[in-house]
Amino acid sequence: MSGSTTGPALPDFPWDSLADHTATARSHPDGVVDLSVGTPVDPVPELIRDALAAVSDQPGYPTTHGTPELRQAAVDAMDRRFGVRGLDPVAVLPTIGSKELVAWLPTLLGVRGGDLVAIPELAYPTYEVGALLAGAEVARVEGLTALGPRRPALLWLNSPSNPTGRVLPIEHLRKVVDWARERGTIIASDECYLSLTWDSSAVSILDPRVSGGSTEGLLAVHSLSKSSSLAGYRAGFVTGDPVLVKRLLEIRKHAGMIVPRPVQSAMTAALRDDQHVVEQRARYEARRKVLREAVLGAGFRVDHSEAGLYLWATRDEDAWDTVAWLASRGILAAPGTFYGPKGGKHVRMALTATDERIAAAAARLTA
Ligand SMILES: Cc1ncc(COP(=O)(O)O)c(C=O)c1O
Repeated sequence: MSGSTTGPALPDFPWDSLADHTATARSHPDGVVDLSVGTPVDPVPELIRDALAAVSDQPGYPTTHGTPELRQAAVDAMDRRFGVRGLDPVAVLPTIGSKELVAWLPTLLGVRGGDLVAIPELAYPTYEVGALLAGAEVARVEGLTALGPRRPALLWLNSPSNPTGRVLPIEHLRKVVDWARERGTIIASDECYLSLTWDSSAVSILDPRVSGGSTEGLLAVHSLSKSSSLAGYRAGFVTGDPVLVKRLLEIRKHAGMIVPRPVQSAMTAALRDDQHVVEQRARYEARRKVLREAVLGAGFRVDHSEAGLYLWATRDEDAWDTVAWLASRGILAAPGTFYGPKGGKHVRMALTATDERIAAAAARLTA
């Protein structure tokens, strides 16, 4: 843990601990295949770049709430892509990518010391960081029964999951929503991999079969980083319960948490077009097929991974041994422990490398 005299103690940044394995993997004569982070590598679609460039002359401040066109485009995309009907554009709030929202959501919602934030047992590290920044307690839970009578102020869901690629079925999500509403717990559902499903389909927390047709107590957190290869633009939005979104908007206005105006236009173009999402999805699907076959061929087991951008793989040994074995072949993967103590026997391999690098990884795995 690293701390300071004034701030909360935060975990060490996990990727720093990969340095030795990175050096080993980089020394491979044919170069490293870095599958340790999920950073997109494909070109930003032209229609999005054009939309960004068309509004480069912007001397004035943008609005924190985003342009009406952007909010309407988000509402329409939620309807077309995920069957979420009838959202009010007022309840859409653009974010500077979704990581900052994940990190600050508990604080912005007024979660404080003494409160509890529940996160998945194996989870994107920033859920924990956000709870710690708010001074709250964190509980990693596999099932809600583990919480007993406790009432979390906030519960994070992430389906499809990073790192496991697991998808939560509709009936399960519906039960979680009922459970949370009975206790006054806010649900934040991180849906950044919702359009990247392979062996099963995933639904939004705002799907009427899950939400019962009401947004009460629910927030859906969306990112354009993966679906539109826009990680470099920092583009996301949150939508759901209008009362909660209004609260977030008020604080974000005061705090200057504003998406730059050219990015707002780029997001509008991206949300209006589904074709580039379909094309990007196909690229990842092809890479997944190649990498998965090679990983299985090398004697790994792949658990879950039915959706999302990662293979959650194991050789039933300590994750760091697997990381070392892969690094000696010039392949860098993340140990499962980055995502929680229960990840000690898995590694996470990202599909976000070029076709050429994925083919190189496959060749090295099966040599
Ligand atoms: C589960 C999850 N949530 C949120 C993010 C943050 O994405 P961004 O800040 O690019 O929107 C990521 C990034 O990998 C992620 O895996």
